[in-house]
Amino acid sequence: MRLLAISGSLRRGSYNAALLDAAAAECPAAGEFVVWRGLADIPAYDEDIDTMPPPLPVAALRAEIDRADAVLIATPEYNASVPGALKNALDWASRPYVTNVLRNKRVAVIGASTGLFGALAAQAELRKVLKVIGATVLEGALPVPVAHTAFSADGRLREPELALALRRTVHELLEQTVERAA
Ligand code: FNR
Repeated sequence: MRLLAISGSLRRGSYNAALLDAAAAECPAAGEFVVWRGLADIPAYDEDIDTMPPPLPVAALRAEIDRADAVLIATPEYNASVPGALKNALDWASRPYVTNVLRNKRVAVIGASTGLFGALAAQAELRKVLKVIGATVLEGALPVPVAHTAFSADGRLREPELALALRRTVHELLEQTVERAA
């Protein structure tokens, strides 16, 4: 079971990247947790260059999503929405629309922000976008608020309820994917 993890932040020291590290620690041994690190290389979407073959970084992204059994996305929140770089990558992944690699792919959305709501608005927007693309999106959000205080030195979430919710999200994502494949 291969789980592809995508952080919507380009920032060194990103709390969303940290959240994915914490999620990786919750991944059962039977699962393979792979973090995609190509976000900075994705060009701005332009139909004129959405060709076959597509730009190499886009081909790599599509191949990684295609290979994955499920996808976990950790999104920051910029101005109550999804950061442009992440939305742009998903726009690339969404083409060609009918056969896009996210279609029927099981996806869970989590997020961290330094604000009080833990990127809740961005997570809702992201779930909406993913549904339009045709992904099968887990309901529910996992908001990590005041993210600059949320992690302990060992990289785990300090708040036990949040840590449990993260574990549940990773396990639910993998279990539902197994059930679907069966
Ligand atoms: C933010 N931030 C932010 N936070 C929030 O809770 N709601 C918001 O609407 C915004 N808007 C926003 C806009 C822009 C342009 C920036 C740069 C930041 C703060 C944001 O949550 C914080 O920078 C996080 O640390 C970003 O996530 P990473 O990079 O740590 O993963």
